[in-house]
Amino acid sequence: MNVYDSDLVAGILSGSGYVKASSMEDAEIVLLNTCAIREKAVERVINKFSQYAYMKKAGRMKIAGILGCIPQHSPERLKKELPFLDILAGPDSYHKLPEMIEASLKDKKLHENTELTHTQNYEEVLPFPENSFSSFVTIMRGCNNFCSYCVVPYVRGRERSRSTGSVLKEVRSLVQRNVTEITLLGQNVNSYYSNGTDLAALLNIISGVEGLKRLRFATSHPKDISDELIHIMANNPKICNHLHLPFQSGSDAILKRMNRGYTREEYLSKIERIRKAVPQIAVTTDVIVGFPGESCEDFEYTLDLMRKAQFDNAFMFIYSERNGTEAKKNFVDDIPRKVKTDRLKKVSELQKKLSLEQMSHETGRIREVLTESVSKKRKDELMGRTEQNRTVIFKKIEGTKPGDYINVRIDRAEGISLFGEQVDKGVGGK
Ligand code: 5AD
Ligand code: SF4
Repeated sequence: MNVYDSDLVAGILSGSGYVKASSMEDAEIVLLNTCAIREKAVERVINKFSQYAYMKKAGRMKIAGILGCIPQHSPERLKKELPFLDILAGPDSYHKLPEMIEASLKDKKLHENTELTHTQNYEEVLPFPENSFSSFVTIMRGCNNFCSYCVVPYVRGRERSRSTGSVLKEVRSLVQRNVTEITLLGQNVNSYYSNGTDLAALLNIISGVEGLKRLRFATSHPKDISDELIHIMANNPKICNHLHLPFQSGSDAILKRMNRGYTREEYLSKIERIRKAVPQIAVTTDVIVGFPGESCEDFEYTLDLMRKAQFDNAFMFIYSERNGTEAKKNFVDDIPRKVKTDRLKKVSELQKKLSLEQMSHETGRIREVLTESVSKKRKDELMGRTEQNRTVIFKKIEGTKPGDYINVRIDRAEGISLFGEQVDKGVGGK
């Protein structure tokens, strides 16, 4: 989402006559877009930006700004730790950046805007992404779920969906620029709703755009996976057979305290229904370990759910206490660091094994791959992704280039990657 938001900011600034610099050293204005979801991300941003202080003193840099969720969440901390900052702008204030920059260039003071509108959708802005054949389109912003550990509802505000017309316009303009794969984004993408159009209907509408080959969406909330959504994933060939469905914990007691709105059985039966309807589907997930009060038994339930759900891959996190959240107010962050890191190690090791199992089923199959880049290690190899979002490294037929859709025979699996050989010349991007 922040990649998309940075492109939005680039769109807003280019509309005001600014151009992208070719490097940090060349830039007169440096803006860093940030995430506040875990404390580690905040520390990383502060460390990184501290290094910019000398550049601001010595070099061309006239404006140093921080954008996004950290200014929204902890503006005082940023001002204290990075006193040379000129701009602080929260996720709803990007359209104000041109005037904030102008003002700061004039008065050399800090300009700050962290007003949450709860409605800002940037409908009128056309983002300015790097040239690519794969692109993001944000279709809804904010979140109303208030999972007890999460800052998103506080830093991004209430859930709101973009109009179907403006989403479609953006998709068409990307496809005209040779984009063939689009990922629709939202904190809670499957609660998209605008004037009678829900996510399933929107996917159907967008898939009708000629020239678009693959359509993805993320991130889904388990409670909002509808039967229509499952039905259209099963029946519309442009909608990729991949679902990112965070489960967060396998224990009912923890899920309740996380305010996730489902039980482990409900989660597992959703997965079962989806797999029945879409047998080729790959499911990925997010999981948090070390949530307040997580007992050994609770943690065992998490491992057990992972074994049952057979995820392709998982993003695994140690619980990070965040100011302002219900978990911080109501529970004590009582799991010792060592236990948290041990649990993270255990989920990682288990997932590594499960990923390899899932990947190994691919051996011998022929899969369509969207080629992305030349492999880092060998020039005669390319890297791409299957519809299931699995990474494939393959020996290419001469002439194949990034953006091509080609068929690859999968020969082996290693870690979370597949390896194989291209079997046909396939088709160009468009
Ligand atoms: N601590 C650790 N992980 C978190 N996530 C969200 N908030 C926290 C937190 N406070 C994780 C969830 C979510 C992903 C984007 O980040 O797993 O799905
Ligand atoms: Fe955060 Fe929960 Fe909303 Fe996801 S659904 S953004 S975890 S509050």
